[in-house]
This record gives sequence, C-alpha cells and structure tokens, in this order.
Amino acid sequence: MNNCVISFPESNFLPLSLQFNARLGEYLTPENSPILFGCRTGLCGTCLVKAVGDIPPPEAEERELLAILAPDNAQARLACQIKLTGNIAITTYQSDEI
Ligand code: FES
Repeated sequence: MNNCVISFPESNFLPLSLQFNARLGEYLTPENSPILFGCRTGLCGTCLVKAVGDIPPPEAEERELLAILAPDNAQARLACQIKLTGNIAITTYQSDEI
C-alpha cells in the first residue's frame, strides 16, 4: 500500500512518510514532530492541531472535544485520532490562538 506524507509547515521538522491507514498517535514523538501528546486516546486535547489534507472527518467523540477546544476552526483535529488516508500538513496551535 502507498505511504502518506505528513508535513509540518511552520516548524523545522522534516516531513514523515507513514503507511496508509496508520494512526498518527502511534508514530509521532517529540523527536519527529512538533506535536505534543498526552493520553493519545482522544480524551485530553493536548494534541490539538490544524490539519489540512485528504483525511476522513472526525468521528463523534473527537467532534465533541473539538467543539469545546476549537469551535470555530474547521481544520482543527486531535492529532492522536487522525488516520492517514492521504498526505497532510499539520500546524500546531500557538497558545494565544485557541
Ligand atoms: S493526546 Fe490526548 S487527545 Fe490526543
């Protein structure tokens, strides 16, 4: 199966190539991405990012948390819940943006 490329514009991290259908939360670390994780199960909101690319929309539980954390941003996602189905670009939130 094809790989998907995850890029991190606005950071110094190099793009990563991961397998189609990989869950981001299982592969990203402080060493390979600018994203911080906590629970990695979609509960804490630590991994809030803006994601642009060809990925499935959030499921109900993720949507609930996003409605609280970033109600006005359609690009907001919980990185730990993203399943890769295409190339994506991820930017982190600045603390004054939320
Ligand atoms: S790491 Fe807790 S919601 Fe993603």
